[in-house]
Amino acid sequence: MPFVKNVLCIGAGYVGGPTMAVIAQKCPDYRITVVDINPQRIADWNSDDLPIYEPGLLEVVKSCRGRNLFFSTDIAGSIRQADIIFVSVNTPTKTYGEGAGMASDLQYWEKTAHEILKYAESDKIIVEKSTLPVRTAEAMERILKSSGNSVHFEVLSNPEFLAEGSAVKDLLNPDRVLIGGQAHPKGQKAIGELTDLYANWVPRDRIITTNLWSSELSKLVANAFLAQRISSINSISALCEKTDADVSEIARAIGTDQRIGNRFLMASVGFGGSCFRKDILNLVYIARSYGLNEVADYWHQVVQLNDFQKNRFVHRMLTEMFNTVSGKKIAAFGFAFKAETGDTRDSAAITIVEKLLEERALVRLTDPQALSNARKDLIDSSLLSFHDNPYEAAEECHAIAVLTEWPLYRSLDYHRIYSAMKKPAFIFDGRNILDHQTLHRIGFNVFPLGKSALTHF
Ligand code: UDX
Ligand code: UDX
Repeated sequence: MPFVKNVLCIGAGYVGGPTMAVIAQKCPDYRITVVDINPQRIADWNSDDLPIYEPGLLEVVKSCRGRNLFFSTDIAGSIRQADIIFVSVNTPTKTYGEGAGMASDLQYWEKTAHEILKYAESDKIIVEKSTLPVRTAEAMERILKSSGNSVHFEVLSNPEFLAEGSAVKDLLNPDRVLIGGQAHPKGQKAIGELTDLYANWVPRDRIITTNLWSSELSKLVANAFLAQRISSINSISALCEKTDADVSEIARAIGTDQRIGNRFLMASVGFGGSCFRKDILNLVYIARSYGLNEVADYWHQVVQLNDFQKNRFVHRMLTEMFNTVSGKKIAAFGFAFKAETGDTRDSAAITIVEKLLEERALVRLTDPQALSNARKDLIDSSLLSFHDNPYEAAEECHAIAVLTEWPLYRSLDYHRIYSAMKKPAFIFDGRNILDHQTLHRIGFNVFPLGKSALTHF
């Protein structure tokens, strides 16, 4: 049976892979190909050991791989065949030259635009899936029009809002799908074609269409607003520790106001992940480049508060453990940037563990998914060891620091852990997931975030 359309995705990462798998499952009439410059990634997508861990993803991939979902290294041939091309290559924060540490590094994205131009022989819709600075589509269009041949490219923006650990769920049942395009007839026609694709499973009233620039900017703004909530509650956690107020009680009290809402109000050691810091810094850079310094400063504070929270956590550990952790064993419970993922990109745990090592603590790291990434993130040190088993990690330790909210850490036998630790035993719950009263009764000195400490001194 011939397919209605050929869809290509360039970039088989955390976003491209799961998104295309769900599109393939829900749109059996479309032929979906995913390519990547990294042949190992493609080989992994073609195996049962997928390159990323997401609940339910393997089942979705298996349901359509070889039917209408193909992972390939043939970038040129796939571009030639495609009607719609999603670009989902990474756009990290620039590490060099102008805008270093703030702006997006668009080198992969631009290289991809040139590849499309080189191989395309027929009209195509180009869909920006990568998070990009506002008005990037304009640059994309300029590159694509630079050959002067008769092939027409219509650029759309279609940012992805999935969160890691719930990618499949988010893709199957999105709050909204956002499609931005140009107002002229060709732009509107392209928007219509992409809308038809998503309408295979997303109700049409959840597919929002906007102009290109609103769509590009919405992605940065959505992440900035989410991160801002975390920095807001984290700032209050610091104040709670000084005033005997309780940050969880405050989150509950304010979250019941429907205008505020109760989600994303959990105080933590700080937000991490591949997007929040990168996207906010990008927003800051863009605002500053338009001379909007007050706007830039406002959003920059969200990132600065996050850094403050990480530093504050380590500082509190030091102060409470009699101003030194040198030579003391500390078990770090969790290294992933959040639970249900092995991803450690920009994880708060990286900063915290590095700082503890600087203070010459002996850090014993445990995490159910992220140890192999942790080994790559941290510089080899005789002060650092890795443990699959949290009981083993905590043995002979002076303190435990909970850095990731894995449910597993709630159900451990803390009597057993306490009896194997050095006394006085400390526990710093950087995610407020443990039962603090019970831990205190067992004998621990408990330091939750944004709540009064429970000590035996
Ligand atoms: C995505 C988005 O693209 C990014 O803009 C957003 O901010 C975060 O999510 P992600 O899927 O997480 O990135 O990135 P990653 O997992 O690194 O995947 C990108 C893939 O693109 C990699 O597999 C890489 O090999 C591939 N790639 C990169 C290409 O195929 N071609 C290139 O030129 C560059
Ligand atoms: C985020 C956005 O949620 C998603 O829409 C976007 O597409 C990509 O970026 P992700 O980075 O996967 O997704 O994770 P998210 O669940 O948003 O968590 C980000 C960080 O915030 C994690 O470190 C998490 O632990 C932290 N967090 C989240 C808190 O500290 N408190 C909260 O209440 C919620």
